[in-house]
Amino acid sequence: MSKPKIVCVVGARPNFMKIAPIMAQLKKPECKFEPYLVHTGQHYDAEMKHSFFDQLGIPEPDVDLGVGSGSHAVQTAEVMKRFEPVLDGQKPAAILVVGDVNSTIACALVAVKKDIPVIHVEAGLRSYDRKMPEEINRVLTDQISDLLFITERHARDNLAREGIATDGVHFVGNVMIDTLLNHVKRAVPVAETLAAVENKEQFLSDSGFALLTMHRPSNVDNQETLERLLNVVRETSERVPVIFPIHPRTASMIDQFSLAGLLDTPRICRLGPLGYLDLLGAMSKARLVLTDSGGIQEETTALGVPCVTLRENTERPITVTEGTNTIVGTDVDKIRSAVSEVLSNGGKGGCVPEYWDGRAAERIVAVLEEKF
Ligand code: UD1
Repeated sequence: MSKPKIVCVVGARPNFMKIAPIMAQLKKPECKFEPYLVHTGQHYDAEMKHSFFDQLGIPEPDVDLGVGSGSHAVQTAEVMKRFEPVLDGQKPAAILVVGDVNSTIACALVAVKKDIPVIHVEAGLRSYDRKMPEEINRVLTDQISDLLFITERHARDNLAREGIATDGVHFVGNVMIDTLLNHVKRAVPVAETLAAVENKEQFLSDSGFALLTMHRPSNVDNQETLERLLNVVRETSERVPVIFPIHPRTASMIDQFSLAGLLDTPRICRLGPLGYLDLLGAMSKARLVLTDSGGIQEETTALGVPCVTLRENTERPITVTEGTNTIVGTDVDKIRSAVSEVLSNGGKGGCVPEYWDGRAAERIVAVLEEKF
């Protein structure tokens, strides 16, 4: 008899490290399910996709919907249109979506209207900032999900506040940290990542380097904000050299606002988007990470590396209450003082949250085997 199918969905870069350990569990011969992997194609550049599949050992997607970029409405609608026939063909027992990108809500919405159960991994996180596209995706996906897997206990309260029945909610830990723990030993040394960089020695010296990532529309789509942030990055680089892998959205905004000159110093190393193992290598050795990413706030907490978050809020508060994360927004004085704190005292320290132990995917599949 054939096994019941679970259609798993990925679309954008942060989805790849979340799906990897789940696919690995679902692919085990003793697993009662058969996974079918759909890539929506929201991210399509080689650096934004292929290197992740290879490095994380994710099987080639069974289908790539090739939606590409577009406005939120166009991108979401395209995913929905192209995902529906997949469900009609595969007739899965459930679909599994991760995180909070446009592909997450688009596929969840198609499935729920077809009466196919929706499983949401990384449910219940809330920034309470509805200007973030991801917050809308989180709230709506959770409302239409049947099984909700949470990464930190207090996510359950967020869900309860929105009237979501608690019997579908399971605290399992963090699949992104499963991937981190599985791969940290294979991380690419920074010296290798910077092999082709001319003045690489200063980044490799004992005084260390800062790692910067930035791509949120609220930080990079507004000229005044982006300019302010890049100015403070340049100032920081005089104290500690900065490695800056640049997301395509950020690269195009820097270009559009003619701000590249601000990064024109040997103290800032500009790179294209890095593969997972290169980023992990740099992150784990950084003296300081400056970021507006959600995942990197969690990864730095798991690694015990100081993180200064260039956002006004976080949907991952445990990285602040228990981890190494400090939220500073885009206020120049706050950024300066958080950076100084790390450079002079090594930052606030922290501990690894409960169940961020590399076994979240195993717990998820155990719940699925019991429920379906
Ligand atoms: C998306 C997610 C965000 C996540 C981020 C990680 C949503 C709403 N946002 O944002 O949560 O943190 O991915 O990267 O889903 N582009 C390329 N090549 C690609 C993909 C994108 O050049 O492979 C460029 C395009 O110009 C595109 C822009 O980047 O318009 C933004 O891409 P998009 O997928 O719309 O959103 P992200 O900003 O990447």
